[in-house]
Amino acid sequence: MGRSDTQGVTPSALQVVGRNSAGGVAAVVVQLGLIVSNAVLWRVLYTHPAGLFTYHPSFQSLAVLGFLEGILLLQPQPPNAAYKRKGLQLHQVVQYTSCAAIVAGAAFIVYNKVAHGAKHFTTWHAKSGLVTLTLIFLQISFGAVIVYTPLQRLIFRGEDRAKKLWKYHRMSGYLTLFFLILTPLLALASDWVRQNSSSAERWVVGVGLAVAGVGALGRVQTSKLGLKTR
Ligand code: HEM
Repeated sequence: MGRSDTQGVTPSALQVVGRNSAGGVAAVVVQLGLIVSNAVLWRVLYTHPAGLFTYHPSFQSLAVLGFLEGILLLQPQPPNAAYKRKGLQLHQVVQYTSCAAIVAGAAFIVYNKVAHGAKHFTTWHAKSGLVTLTLIFLQISFGAVIVYTPLQRLIFRGEDRAKKLWKYHRMSGYLTLFFLILTPLLALASDWVRQNSSSAERWVVGVGLAVAGVGALGRVQTSKLGLKTR
């Protein structure tokens, strides 16, 4: 147990994860969807080694897992300010790590295509991947400007106004989440995946991802998005 103050006792990381990421039916459903889809995908990747290409789906599936975990961490209303602070710290660590993973995964596929003289962004998966990467870049830049830089005073005219804009960070976060699920779903239709997996494996990966995405969207607190006041 950590520091105690007037705003509540600082919880441990495990307490926040247990309460926010695994508490309640929807959270368990999301976790199951993620575990099952990743287990089947990684089995496919392990049993069909494909050189540098393998790093692309490996890093991207880890990134999707990480980004979703980072979202789950902040969804329920925190019981006090100490919980809120700890959740936010964990959210930042997990989202930056996932960002590094998705950039690495993108670099591997772009490099692999250059090395083979293949054309870029020709499929729906690739185009959706580009949208996903752009949204993540905007999402992280916005969050970082508000939290760390004095620039927020200039850009958003003051800290209070900047904080009121968090609801847009949340909204664009859920749009990003939609693309984070759509992009790997579109990858299931790619030649490589179709040639190296059974249709049962593709179904399980697809349904697992969709269930995780719908489960996370089902946990959205509309009041935090400014759509409903409590
Ligand atoms: C959110 C996760 C993902 C993102 C953001 C993403 C992004 C991308 C991008 C941007 C490209 C095109 C690169 C270029 O044209 O230079 C690409 C290609 C590719 N990706 Fe992904 N990807 C993701 C997940 C996956 C997964 C999980 C798989 C496999 C199961 C996969 C399989 C492929 C394949 C086979 C290609 C080459 C064919 C094509 O361009 O569609 N990707 N990806």
